[in-house]
Amino acid sequence: MPLTKSIQSISIVGSGKVAHYLALEWHKYGYHIAFIVARNAKAGKALAKQCGAKYSADSQSALTSDVVVLAVSDDAIAAVQKTFKGYKGLLLHCAGSVNMQVLSASKRRGVIYPLQSVQSVPMPKDFTFLIEAEHSKDLSLIKALLKACQLHFVKADSAQRLHYHLAAVIVNNFTNALISIADQLISDFDLQAKPLQAMLQKTVQTALQKGGYESQTGPAKRGDFGTLKQHEQLLKQQPLVLAVYKSLSAYIYHSHQTPSKQ
Ligand SMILES: NC(=O)c1ccc[n+]([C@@H]2O[C@H](COP(=O)([O-])OP(=O)(O)OC[C@H]3O[C@@H](n4cnc5c(N)ncnc54)[C@H](OP(=O)(O)O)[C@@H]3O)[C@@H](O)[C@H]2O)c1
Repeated sequence: MPLTKSIQSISIVGSGKVAHYLALEWHKYGYHIAFIVARNAKAGKALAKQCGAKYSADSQSALTSDVVVLAVSDDAIAAVQKTFKGYKGLLLHCAGSVNMQVLSASKRRGVIYPLQSVQSVPMPKDFTFLIEAEHSKDLSLIKALLKACQLHFVKADSAQRLHYHLAAVIVNNFTNALISIADQLISDFDLQAKPLQAMLQKTVQTALQKGGYESQTGPAKRGDFGTLKQHEQLLKQQPLVLAVYKSLSAYIYHSHQTPSKQ
């Protein structure tokens, strides 16, 4: 039973993480997923089975759906959308960094970008979708689709979404990269993980309260170059990690030398 009268069916292109997440979420809340269109037949069929949809390798199958969501890699969106030329329904993509106008195949276009790292389902609902649509009626449809699943959203145009995406890469991807470097050091130097995990929790908590700039301490902020050299010496066999260390230390040092934030 459709929850939004004008959306009788949704098709999803792709069989990756976001395709899984959206297909299963909408299916759970009563939407009819008509087709999973995917080039990977095994993954596409498996997802289709999970959400009561049909599998297809051909975009044409989805042309009768009210909404088509392109949940494919960012670089593939431009080419994949061309296969929907003349589509009369609402064509959406899910990328943070891709302008909505790339969806030139349909006059009714929009974006639903989950501002969260989507890895596995089910996911908690405490994150926000950034949404955009060419027409206000379609923006209302997107809102209805998300509201029906108790998902949060804010409106952001393509330029704003790109800015959010940049900040999101730093918050999520860069933090994960730094944690994985720390994991490697724990393993290489046979350290105990627990005290550093407690430090990580406290670091995030304090930064959320005071802001990252105000929370900063350490040798780079103080300008303790002897300490920095010792650390660099320990990393000399790991050029990539050494480059990260030097670059972040330089950023910390210089940004704390001036009265205003950089
Ligand atoms: N995961 C996240 O945390 C996250 C968060 C926010 C937004 N997004 C956005 O969501 C979209 C999908 O990301 P994802 O994380 O779901 O990626 P993913 O798990 O890597 O899945 C990508 C999907 O795109 C398909 N694909 C790639 N190139 C294609 C092409 N040329 N033609 C047809 N299909 C193609 C892949 O098919 P194959 O399996 O055959 O390669 C796969 O089904 C992206 O725009 C991404 O920016 C992702």
